[in-house]
Amino acid sequence: MLVRCLYASRTRVPLDGVVLDSILAASLRNNPKHGITGILCFGEDTFLQVLEGGRKEVSSLFGKIARDDRHFDFELLIHEDIAERSFSNWTMGRVDLEKVNPAILLKYSKKIKLDPFSSPGATVLSLLEELVNTASISIRSF
Ligand SMILES: Cc1cc2nc3c(=O)[nH]c(=O)nc-3n(C[C@H](O)[C@H](O)[C@H](O)COP(=O)(O)O)c2cc1C
Repeated sequence: MLVRCLYASRTRVPLDGVVLDSILAASLRNNPKHGITGILCFGEDTFLQVLEGGRKEVSSLFGKIARDDRHFDFELLIHEDIAERSFSNWTMGRVDLEKVNPAILLKYSKKIKLDPFSSPGATVLSLLEELVNTASISIRSF
């Protein structure tokens, strides 16, 4: 059984390359062996991550990430059973929300800046799917 989970959180530490690299390194180390795919988006002070995979594997990773003190204000936007993955090419893709084409952000939100905390989960997911389809994602696929 496959599930998808989408959450938003706020960064506790300033987001620099070191923090991001260490999160991405953990994802690349762990996610493939657990069959987890997804993408991690980051903005000024926000993380947005979608995780897909087996229910047990996603629950276990989600629990681990939720306890990570590099972020807080954890908000679950979607947790659902899925028939197929939307992010199957991504061990953990990476998106800098500050660099996304403004027209894509504007399509899904009131302003050019996306605020996942005040947007419906389905809207945020549509934005992430569009980012995949418009090749706005960087870093490694399977
Ligand atoms: C926003 C955020 C997203 C993360 N995403 C992942 C992930 O997709 N996979 C992962 O293994 N760790 C992720 N982590 C890191 C975990 O919280 C944890 O530090 C890591 O899995 C520990 O890896 P290890 O057991 O190999 O040392 C994330 C952390 C943060 C703050």
